[in-house]
Amino acid sequence: MALRAKVLGTGSYLPPKVVTNDDLAQIMNTSDEWIQQRSGIKERRFVDDGMMTSDLALEASRAALASAGLEAGDLDMIVVASFTPDHYFPGVSSFLQRKLGLDATPAMDLRCQCTGFVYALQTARAFVESGIYQRVLVCGSELHSRGLEFSDRGRDTAVLFGDGAGALILGPSEEGDGILNCRVYAQGEHAERLWMDAPGLAYQGLTNAEMIAEGRQVPAMDGRFVFKHAVARMPEVLLATLAECDLGLDDVDHFLFHQANLRINEMVAKKLQADPAKVHNNIHKTGNTSAATLPILLDQVVSEGKLKRGELVTMTGFGSGFTWGSCVFRY
Ligand code: UT7
Repeated sequence: MALRAKVLGTGSYLPPKVVTNDDLAQIMNTSDEWIQQRSGIKERRFVDDGMMTSDLALEASRAALASAGLEAGDLDMIVVASFTPDHYFPGVSSFLQRKLGLDATPAMDLRCQCTGFVYALQTARAFVESGIYQRVLVCGSELHSRGLEFSDRGRDTAVLFGDGAGALILGPSEEGDGILNCRVYAQGEHAERLWMDAPGLAYQGLTNAEMIAEGRQVPAMDGRFVFKHAVARMPEVLLATLAECDLGLDDVDHFLFHQANLRINEMVAKKLQADPAKVHNNIHKTGNTSAATLPILLDQVVSEGKLKRGELVTMTGFGSGFTWGSCVFRY
């Protein structure tokens, strides 16, 4: 039997502070009705002062280690998917590695926005399947709340995002379970359709007062364009990923989609004619937590006892870049 990368344990962490749509309507011109109608979001979690992306990652990673029955010292490699790092450099993974009490374990960041976790799985599984590393921590962690602008100018994105982290541990298996296939794609042609222009090294000194006044540090999105591409790419990549390992939609026990907008996921599920009982969503409670979304959702489905060992799971994402991808695994 081929060597495959199997999920040994999962964990997640959401900061305790709940921010409802009504809370947001107190500080800017929006409403619970607008947000729920367009996105399905009712509330999200925001960090308190002092907490950073690497702290969220630490909590989720500790939970994943405990669920796998492992200790940090058992890890051979750390991969963190995030585009909301504590600092410009080094990446979140260096701070996470230090907070886990490790001193030489290799640690890398991966920046592929909302598809980051699927890219991270594709990367980590290659290390496990090749035999290079045995135990790989794969974490998605995002802290959006400090980077959003709660004003008319930023409201189209400010209402959509939340903070959180999710993690899993991959290890080798020859039992026929584990990751069966994973496919990731990118289309840089549409990079500016969902992006944050500055700060960046395209500009002397990263940014300046004039650029800040223009709001070039506020996430900018062509919402309808993103929506249209997400509902086309997600079913397409999921079906192709399944077909490549001779599987079909009926074989899938659990569909996990990136949680950017409930309306996107409803359209994707409808296109696929997926059994609603097999489609899991948590966006109403979390908002969009980008690269943290899929591992948070996975851990919740596991913790709620909905996902059993041996069942077939798909994880499918789409995001800025554009990037998209899908992973199918037997849990
Ligand atoms: O991980 C991937 C990331 N993102 C996505 O996948 C998002 C994909 N796109 C979407 O989810 C939707 O396009 C949105 C939810 C972002 C927006 O929905 P929409 O139906 O495309 O709305 P819109 O952008 O066309 O805006 C409609 C109106 C505008 O007012 P006018 O010009 O019609 O007067 C906006 O100014 O809604 C206004 N608006 C708001 N009103 C209240 C925009 N943001 C808000 C807000 N509250 N937060």
